[in-house]
Amino acid sequence: MKKRLLQPIQSGSQTGLQWSEYFSKSKFKAETNMFRNLWIPAFPSSLQETWPLSIGGKNILACGGEHPRMFENACTHRGSKLVEKKCKASKFTVCPYHFWKFDMRSGSVVRTPRIESDCEFKENHKLRQFPLKKLCHLHLGYFGNEAAHPDMWWSEDHAFTQKMNRLNTGSFEVVRTGEFNVTGNWKLIVENFLDFLHVPSIHPTLNNSSAYENHIHDCTDGLDHIAFRTEPTTPGTPIYELKDGGNALYFDVLFPNYFQFSDKAHVFGVFVNPISPGETVESAFLSVRPGAATPKQIEQLWDFYSDVNKEDIAMVERVHRGLQGGKGDRHMQLVDYVDQHLIRFRDLLRQKETEFETATAAMHNSTPPPMPSDQPTTIDINYVNQQAGI
Ligand code: FES
Ligand SMILES: [Fe+2]
Repeated sequence: MKKRLLQPIQSGSQTGLQWSEYFSKSKFKAETNMFRNLWIPAFPSSLQETWPLSIGGKNILACGGEHPRMFENACTHRGSKLVEKKCKASKFTVCPYHFWKFDMRSGSVVRTPRIESDCEFKENHKLRQFPLKKLCHLHLGYFGNEAAHPDMWWSEDHAFTQKMNRLNTGSFEVVRTGEFNVTGNWKLIVENFLDFLHVPSIHPTLNNSSAYENHIHDCTDGLDHIAFRTEPTTPGTPIYELKDGGNALYFDVLFPNYFQFSDKAHVFGVFVNPISPGETVESAFLSVRPGAATPKQIEQLWDFYSDVNKEDIAMVERVHRGLQGGKGDRHMQLVDYVDQHLIRFRDLLRQKETEFETATAAMHNSTPPPMPSDQPTTIDINYVNQQAGI
């Protein structure tokens, strides 16, 4: 019999989220608001493209290149969306409606054809800019109330940061990017990444290098980082062929919307951006350590990850269809031993929802709901659902 390396971290039976939480409109609205209360992983730091994104219900323009920035993706004249599809990063963007030209470093208007515009006018018609912070190989944005920036909970001494520093991912270069549309709820995508029980059945090829029985629990004490790894990695996929990639493949989730595979030679990362309860857009990238892969290996690696991702998306969509057809008040049944990472994700979601509700209640000067207990698994789910309007 094959060894099972993971040890249970919880005891007793566990329930996941209520089924309706994957398709309820009111729940989705509450989550979208919660996104605005957090620093959100948005794009890779070495991106050389401009990405139109939807985060926290807002249209965002993520501008890579030498001076990364994030702006509202709407012209300040009549509101036309500035960029519809990802494109090469450039210093200027021209609105397609009346050709106003914007400087993508400052967001200033630099040209308004057929209209006289003085400095004051240009200043008053700057694009709205969002705060940005760099964390290893990622940029995170904040899209909420400007007067109340929360602290970013991933600091320099955080386990994720330390691990990425050890892998030196900050020196990797983005070599491929892609977008995947998913007809399914955003939480199912993150949960699917954390559910490695499906690797042998859904990803037989991935299972060659990252075998189910080689998974090792890698979470840190706090809830805010959910991670595991496979060690050792074994031959059978393009991952194993990279130069000096090490003998472990790391899996990390940064709440709420980012997951990645990484080793000493590469990162394949996915930003999960919800559009509606049943629609999500994934922005994916592959970055590699300079010299770790030939152009052909990069091609093979990207194709490999794209295939794995499509296999995942097919299952996420299938689960979404299953949940939608069922009774909304049922709970997903999680298994302690294999689903401990999903349990952490559920607990983290509950914790962040409660924090957001408390902050909102305090802002409105009303009685705040009770703080979560030390053991997030004991939060009264009915109470939280009631608060979320379910
Ligand atoms: S709406 Fe953009 S230039 Fe008029
Ligand atoms: Fe998968």
